[in-house]
Amino acid sequence: MTPLEKVQARFRIEFGEAPAAIVRAPGRVNLIGEHTDYNDGFVFPLAIDRAAWIALRPRADSCVRVISLDMDDDQSFNLNDLPRPDATRWIDYIIGVAWALQRGGYRLAGWEGVLAGDVPIGSGLSSSAALELAAARAFYCVSDFDWDAAQMAQIGRAAENEWLGIQTGIMDQMISAAGVAGRALLIDCRSLESTPAPLPADTSIVILDTGTRRGLVGSAYNERRRQCEAAARHFGIAALRDIDLATFANRASELAPVIRRRARHVISENERTLQARAAMLAGDAEALGELMIASHTSLRDDFEVSSPALDAIVNCANAEPSCYGARLTGAGFGGCAVALVRRDAAEDFVRKVGAGYASATGNTPALYVTRASAGATTMQLGAPENTRL
Ligand code: GLA
Repeated sequence: MTPLEKVQARFRIEFGEAPAAIVRAPGRVNLIGEHTDYNDGFVFPLAIDRAAWIALRPRADSCVRVISLDMDDDQSFNLNDLPRPDATRWIDYIIGVAWALQRGGYRLAGWEGVLAGDVPIGSGLSSSAALELAAARAFYCVSDFDWDAAQMAQIGRAAENEWLGIQTGIMDQMISAAGVAGRALLIDCRSLESTPAPLPADTSIVILDTGTRRGLVGSAYNERRRQCEAAARHFGIAALRDIDLATFANRASELAPVIRRRARHVISENERTLQARAAMLAGDAEALGELMIASHTSLRDDFEVSSPALDAIVNCANAEPSCYGARLTGAGFGGCAVALVRRDAAEDFVRKVGAGYASATGNTPALYVTRASAGATTMQLGAPENTRL
């Protein structure tokens, strides 16, 4: 059963009627532009065809009750008395979204419903952002406010950063909120403007999950952020977005070697990300693939966020003639890579790379061809998509 079928079926059993609305918010894979978002730079993700789904109906009181099918758990809270986070349970993401919305002056109504998803948790495909944006969309359905994708992305990020204390940039929430079907989205993480771009014709996007997870991602991520901030401070700029490669090359020797490498990654990655847009608009899969390969090298050598498993799966992918380019995606250290592949060879690519990587590393990978889907949406049964309750 799909998550959509699951939430519908359980809703009927639990509440004795069809849900008033079903909301969906997707996970993401980033094509290029890694560790640039918290430097006010550019990212180029797409919303994937895996998502968090909530079937819901409004409540007359200020209570929110959610049954999570994946966690086999049933939790409630009162909007007038939000319980503080407790070791980051799944419900804390929803409470955090309620907190951020209320802090932003949004007046919220209660609801109850059933949650399920198929974004693998902890694999680097942004299951958290999907949950945050699905929760925001659920509140939007039952309350009286307008949906602004960039604002809702900021709400999701505030929930994660400030309520839960987990540091992230804005990329994951932006793409989950603003994704466009069939398109990747170039996002300017300073202005939050986003520009859709078509993927090159006759290509497929393949997600390559290494099957590895690393526990210390959080502390290494925060360390990278501090290093980038130190470099920006040194140059007297607001963020590494504000310096180009030529200026940086002239002054790079002023920085300590580690900080220099971190800054070089971010500054060159911003340039690659803008070049990627030109490649996409020209339909040039080869140029886009080259940029992805250069991005991985920079992440591996300068930013040092790859891992033996990620390098192994990226190497296996790049060795296939049908692959234009592959790179790690997301924070790094484990989780997933992404590859741009000739569409007619995608199934063959998945089989060969899966087998090659498994025998080289002994890990169990998961590879799947994905499609660019839309950002957070509401389905109202029997009514056109995105109608309000
Ligand atoms: C994680 C964060 C994002 C971004 C990436 C790296 O996915 O949540 O905001 O910083 O790492 O590009």
